[in-house]
Amino acid sequence: MIIDEHPLFDEIIHKNKINSTSNHALSLIKENLIKGNFLVIADEQSAGSGRKKSLWHSPLGGLWFSLGLYNVVQDSSITLFMAVLIHQTIIEIYPSLQSDLKIKWPNDIMLDHRKVCGILTSYHSWAKYLICGIGIDTNISKMPLELSNIAVSLKNYLNIEVNNSFLLKAFLDKLYQQLPVFLEHGFAEYQYYFNQFDYLKNRIVTLDTEFQVFKGKVLKINKSGALIMELDENLIQPFYSGSIVEID
Ligand code: BTN
Repeated sequence: MIIDEHPLFDEIIHKNKINSTSNHALSLIKENLIKGNFLVIADEQSAGSGRKKSLWHSPLGGLWFSLGLYNVVQDSSITLFMAVLIHQTIIEIYPSLQSDLKIKWPNDIMLDHRKVCGILTSYHSWAKYLICGIGIDTNISKMPLELSNIAVSLKNYLNIEVNNSFLLKAFLDKLYQQLPVFLEHGFAEYQYYFNQFDYLKNRIVTLDTEFQVFKGKVLKINKSGALIMELDENLIQPFYSGSIVEID
């Protein structure tokens, strides 16, 4: 058991191996098998899911979990809020990462230009549940070749074994403390921190919003969590969702 109980949750479910902690969380909700806030953790996922229906590599060693949060507001900035808390947690445990660890809008944590954590949030209004799936590449010694340029593990970068239980508990304690603040004041409270560690700031990026592709310079993240881009000299536009498909 990496964690047995926590004041944030009514139930904690720990599996050795399942397809996906987020899928499992959704099944529990759909089948009415769960109440209140809950957490699903897996040592290994056979079909971890990432953004845009991609497969999320989730072998033994990583930290894979999904939060089931009941009755929280639907707001896309909750993913950014979670990213801020994950970033803070990692920096507090490993202060040497202060300058290399960045938050990439809308859902990634980057370590020296490679992804170390991804967050995938979905809201199920019919059940009033938000599922937030978080994957952190902690103790993955061997990245598959096709991921080695785009993903990195804390273990390989720091040359140490990460204590997954300790990291998870530190994050959950922070979440327990900060969730009421986020729910009352929104992302505005975390905007400054995000901008301080913003991976995209001042970069020329290509953003795919599914309706249109935009290219421009990233200025900042605003208080609602939107990405503010300068599309040309006279056109500054906020984006509330989309994927960064290229960085110049
Ligand atoms: C992304 O594409 O960046 C998001 C990846 C989210 C992965 C995590 S791992 C735990 C949870 N279970 C899943 O199947 N996905 C999320």
